[in-house]
This record gives sequence, structure tokens and C-alpha cells, in this order.
Amino acid sequence: MIIVRTFGEVRAAAHSAVSLVPTMGYLHEGHMSLIGAASQTGDTTVVSLFVNPTQFGDSADFVAYPHNEARDAAIAEAAGCDIFFAPSADEVYPLGHRVTVSVGGVGDAMEGRFRHGHFEGVATVVAKLFAGVQPRRAFFGRKDAQQLAVVRTLRDGLRFPVEVIGMPTVREQDGLALSSRNTQIGKGVRREALSLSRALFSAADAIEQGERDSAAIAKIARSVAAATPQVEVEYLEVADSMSAAPIEEIDRDAFVAIAAKVGGVRLIDNIAVDAVTLATDRGIMLDKQSILYEED
Ligand code: PAF
Repeated sequence: MIIVRTFGEVRAAAHSAVSLVPTMGYLHEGHMSLIGAASQTGDTTVVSLFVNPTQFGDSADFVAYPHNEARDAAIAEAAGCDIFFAPSADEVYPLGHRVTVSVGGVGDAMEGRFRHGHFEGVATVVAKLFAGVQPRRAFFGRKDAQQLAVVRTLRDGLRFPVEVIGMPTVREQDGLALSSRNTQIGKGVRREALSLSRALFSAADAIEQGERDSAAIAKIARSVAAATPQVEVEYLEVADSMSAAPIEEIDRDAFVAIAAKVGGVRLIDNIAVDAVTLATDRGIMLDKQSILYEED
């Protein structure tokens, strides 16, 4: 594996078509599954590490975001990365934040209501990565279901010739969806954080038993979340997988999404639903403790 800092160096070093895994670092098994899938394609696997300031509304959240490049480079290499791309802010934003990409309605609901400007930041940085790295395939986690819809809209709208591949959510042994933010959850409220996955799994059970009505599904999930008053739910929605717009019933492929604050840490999670079979995708469970908790 080589470590490079500029888009030009990535293009010069890639000797075949590229599979790209964009990340903001502090890698965990979820990222490793994306990198593993990318390297299985036989393409040159590029992992980018860039903590993108423009997608954080709150500068305190940006500053608190965990960062350790040496740790991430070692994990990426072990997972199959060929080129580790860790650019500076100037490389990504040579004109400052002057040129931006907006994707319209797909970013408006759910995260868009609570994190103004977030998806413009995501769409802008992903567009720069697609334009600068020129991947044939790009891998993203389905844990960020609305982000995946935003990236697909961006790809279609700007006609980037890239296949966007969504990979299953990876969960800790107790069901908590893996996120670099899990390291910020205080020990005292760790158990309370499980309320998110419990609420979603209860929704998934109801859906698998035939429930298609979004209000009924949300009511079941909300009542489970309400049993943990320390968890402050921001939204709980059933949304169309493609447009990320809330829907009244599951008559197309959908996801049930939740966002909540636990001990001051904001977490999101979702489960995907197949509209024809009503099968749900709850993701993959780790069988041992995550590398997130290993000493640096
Ligand atoms: O999902 C993430 O880690 C980020 O939003 C992404 C896609 C790398 C863009 O900064």
C-alpha cells in the first residue's frame, strides 16, 4: 500500500480501474467490509481519509471527531487497500468553499431537517472525490441510507460513470450499529444507546408480519424507544430508498430510520425493507468486540 496526498498522485499510482472507499477515518469493521468488497473486485482499491469540515454544522462536533491517520492506514492496508489517499483541506478545497453541489429534495427530510447544510457538504466532497479519483466503483455503508440516496442522486445528476454499491450495516455484538461516534458514548449510557436498534428491530418484526402502514410501524418503534427516557429521539421515519422521502405505506423499497441523542452523542441507524417480500435487512452482527475499542 502507498500513502498519497493529492488527486494527481492517486491517478498516477492507479494502474487499473479504481474501486473507491470514501471515509472520514477512525475505521472500524464496517469500513473494513467496504474495503474488503472493493479489493475483491480486482480493481485498484483506493481508500480516502478526509474529515470533511463542510458536512459538520457544529464546529465542536468537527473538532471532537476522532482522528488517527497511522491507525487508519494500518487497518486499511490489512483490509486490502492499495492506495491510501489522505489529502489536505487545500487539496480538496483549493478555492475554499466556493464551489458547492446541491442535490435538492433527497437531502431535505430526516438528516436534512436536523443538520442544515450537511448533505450539501457530503455531495460536494463526494463529487470532488468522484471527479478527482475517477473510480469505476464506489462503496458506501447502508447505515447512512439517506446519504446513499444523496450519492446516487449526485451520480445520476452529474452523470459520473461510477457504480455506487451499498453494503450492509455492521453491528456490535449487542446490536449497536458501528460508527466512529460510538467511541464518544459514555460508559454510563452505553446500554441506553441500544434503544435505537431495539426500536428498529421491533419495527422490522412488525413489517415481517405484514405491517405496511408507516404510522403503525413508527408507533411501534417509538413506543420501544420511549421505554428509555435518556434517549432523545429526533426522528423516526419510514422513507423511500431512492428518494429518501417519507412514505405513508411500504409500497416500494424503503428504510426505517431513526436519529437520537444519547448522552450528548448523536446516533443514526436504519433497517432496509424489500417492498415485495417485506423481508428486512438488519445488517451483520460482529461476534467479538469491535476494533474501535482497541488502544491506539
Ligand atoms: O460517510 C462518510 O464517512 C462521509 O459522509 C463521506 C461519504 C466519506 C463523505 O465525507
